[in-house]
Amino acid sequence: MDLFQKREQWQTSQGFILATIGSAIGLGNIWRFPTVVGESGGGAFLLVYLIIILILGLPLMLGELSIGRRGKSSIIGAFMSIKPHTPWWLIGAISVFSGILILSFYSVISGWSLYYMFSFLTGQFQGAGIQEVQNLFQSFVQRPFFPLFWQGTFLFITLCIVMRGIHKGIERASTVLMPILFVLLFLLALRSITLDGAWEGVLWFIRPQLAAINIQVVLGALGQVFFSLSLGMGAILTYGSYLAPEDAIPKSSLIISLSDLTIAIVAGFIIIPAVFAFGLEPETGLPLIFITLPLIFGSLPVGQLLGASFFILLSIAALTSALSILEVVVAACKDTFQWSRNKATLLSTLIIFFLSIPSSLSMGTWEHVRFWGFPFLEFLDTITAVFFLPLIGLLTSIFIGWIWTPHKCVQEITREKVPFPLSSIWSFLIKYVVPISMLYILISGFLA
Ligand code: TRP
Repeated sequence: MDLFQKREQWQTSQGFILATIGSAIGLGNIWRFPTVVGESGGGAFLLVYLIIILILGLPLMLGELSIGRRGKSSIIGAFMSIKPHTPWWLIGAISVFSGILILSFYSVISGWSLYYMFSFLTGQFQGAGIQEVQNLFQSFVQRPFFPLFWQGTFLFITLCIVMRGIHKGIERASTVLMPILFVLLFLLALRSITLDGAWEGVLWFIRPQLAAINIQVVLGALGQVFFSLSLGMGAILTYGSYLAPEDAIPKSSLIISLSDLTIAIVAGFIIIPAVFAFGLEPETGLPLIFITLPLIFGSLPVGQLLGASFFILLSIAALTSALSILEVVVAACKDTFQWSRNKATLLSTLIIFFLSIPSSLSMGTWEHVRFWGFPFLEFLDTITAVFFLPLIGLLTSIFIGWIWTPHKCVQEITREKVPFPLSSIWSFLIKYVVPISMLYILISGFLA
């Protein structure tokens, strides 16, 4: 690995922040967050989620960005360059593996989003009630090839952008599109909380129910924090590797986490009140937003047009996240095997596409085939979020806290006189609090 070879860089620090926000904000906020909140009892979940972001998510994001910038390399190369001739690069290898797993099911749900855009454009949801919406969803996922077609289309678009390289593709796409999504989400939340009967849902979502907190809720919240902030898989680390020394890592981490949290909460305010207003079950699971959203749009003037615009934007949010996942895999193959960007992108996308076939089928024809009680897609989603990502996060915190040392990491962060006022609290968190609490949550979660 040639450390001195010229490496691509973000052109502006704003471009980096937007692209990283683009990575963080995606289906995780709009599809997964309301699903997990629904399954884990509303307010009980939210409180735990906030605490975990603050004491585990944010410190790890700082750590990942610093390793990336210091290592100036892909996820595998970064660990190798900071601690050569040690097995720590294996963290990178596990990350690449979990990136492939995540993108294989992430692209399936993204494909659904593309299909919904198309359905709204062609007026299929016009005047549809609860029963029709549910039937439309079921008849779509039951077909074997049609969802795969949309999923393949989504992967193909991702491939084209990643092939164009870091700032030409990713940075430009994020800068233009993310702000439009924010505005539309806020408007939808306003509509949802003013639906008849929505208030009960609002309360259910925000009222802390301490008695309902158990280790499964905590484990679920931990997984959701990792998934939503794109942590524990090298996405943030890889984006950090294209950072310039004068970019402020602490400030960027704060902006990225806060934006991600805001969007998740806004999405909660869109979906949860609507679930109550339409008399649906919060525990519906994966299809939740694909059932509630068409109903919300049905209650709006020009709902079909708004629905189509929403799903275009959701697909774009999914795209900017998918880019970051594929970029990890591509950067790692490129740096490790000295492949060209094109070859690395093509081969990894092909593998991911083949892996996604069972996920896609598991929502329809193969529904009865179970892995540890879950359909394949849910199984991948669960093991990556509550096992692989936190495991990598745990190893990363041990690496920073005990091998590379917080002192050297702080030196990297403050290299160009960038202020880092809470550095001693951060060092304490990353050295003791992050590894110990994660180990505790993981072990007790799996024993429960
Ligand atoms: N954070 C993204 C979302 O919320 C998904 C994502 C992108 C991701 N990169 C990741 C998840 C890396 C885990 C790891 O949709």
